Amino acid sequence: MGMSVSVLAQTLKGSEIIKIGGEINELKRKGEKIANLTIGDFDPSIYPIPMGLKHGIIDAYHANHTNYPPADGVTVLRENISTFLKERFHLDYQINEVLVAGGSRPLIYATYLALVDPGDKVVYPTPSWNNNHYCHLSGANGIPVPTSADNNFMPRAEDIRPHLKGATMLALCSPLNPTGTMFAKKDLEEICDLVIEENSSRSEDEKPLYILYDQIYSLLTFSDKKHYDPVTLRPELREYVIYIDGISKCFAATGVRVGWAFGPQNIIGKMRSILGHVGAWAPKAEQIATAKFLTQTADLNTYLKNFKNQLQLSLDTLYQGVKQLKSEGFEVDSIDPMGAIYLTVKIDYTGKTTPDGDLLQSSADVNFYLIKEAKIAFVPFSAFGSDSSMNWFRASVGGCSLADIQGMLPRLKAALEKLK
Ligand SMILES: Cc1ncc(COP(=O)(O)O)c(C=O)c1O
Repeated sequence: MGMSVSVLAQTLKGSEIIKIGGEINELKRKGEKIANLTIGDFDPSIYPIPMGLKHGIIDAYHANHTNYPPADGVTVLRENISTFLKERFHLDYQINEVLVAGGSRPLIYATYLALVDPGDKVVYPTPSWNNNHYCHLSGANGIPVPTSADNNFMPRAEDIRPHLKGATMLALCSPLNPTGTMFAKKDLEEICDLVIEENSSRSEDEKPLYILYDQIYSLLTFSDKKHYDPVTLRPELREYVIYIDGISKCFAATGVRVGWAFGPQNIIGKMRSILGHVGAWAPKAEQIATAKFLTQTADLNTYLKNFKNQLQLSLDTLYQGVKQLKSEGFEVDSIDPMGAIYLTVKIDYTGKTTPDGDLLQSSADVNFYLIKEAKIAFVPFSAFGSDSSMNWFRASVGGCSLADIQGMLPRLKAALEKLK
């Protein structure tokens, strides 16, 4: 007998995060309490969605908005997104340049399918979220470009330059999952200039180089940190940039499933056709509620302010705790949180031995040791395409209270002290 499923299905890579989740659930079953910093999600009892959005959803069901939405999203939502983009980002996109779907994931996948042919080069920095999987699904020739702590794990033009010749897409994200760091203006400008240069070197019948710009965390930036985007910095790139955004992260609405993409009409139109066949629409009532919520500016701003304060306090507490351990001589470090819901933490303990005599050979081993010994779960950057020797981890604070975070720091210290 041959293979029972497609090559695609057979070669899908499992998620490392799910494996870690399995380990956590196992311990929870045994009654252990774990500080779960693994999930890029929110505990709704700590981070509820905005009231206005919740009521809007309920009202929309009462008003019987239960039939098919239009394939590209309800008009009022696309209108309000267009206005929101103008007001918040000074970006000018008409409603036929905006596409709504059931969260931002289908839109990322549709961008890949609309632009990338099997074998085409897609360049993306690592660590980054899921580009390896989208490359696999689309048959792209994914080119991961490693970044490093000295530039906050954000790519620089010099890292990317050697890989752009002939590439179809450059996938960028800021604020970045998994690091919670952001593009510096100069770095993004220089990368934009590379794309402009590459495109001007191509002939009419070659496919251009596009940028997929995932800014799903753009409203979650801390203190004076400023979010930058390619078209604002280099308006001539407008034809070549597809933006990804939505409500999942900035309004803690991961289960509500409303995302949007915006970009040049010809590409957005193709993405609409692709997703139309998949049927990846956002539920109609949620679209109508989101449309309304986007116009409730005062409530929205208040929600965002409180939400960001709460996230920042958790991230800062963890950051300060790790820095304190560093100052006590532990082999740990962390990068100042800039945006999103993540902190980048270094735990440099591979090569050490546990009290049970096990050698920690990789970042995954260190992670499983901390889960067992300290009841703390991070995600190693190897889950985001980085090499398994890289001793950096993502800590996501959306599923934990501040008290959970304060309580885990002494446990982290005690567990690290036991390693020889
Ligand atoms: C960078 C980034 N883009 C997109 C998504 C997916 O968002 P959604 O839940 O809207 O599909 C995530 C979720 O983890 C993310 O981190």
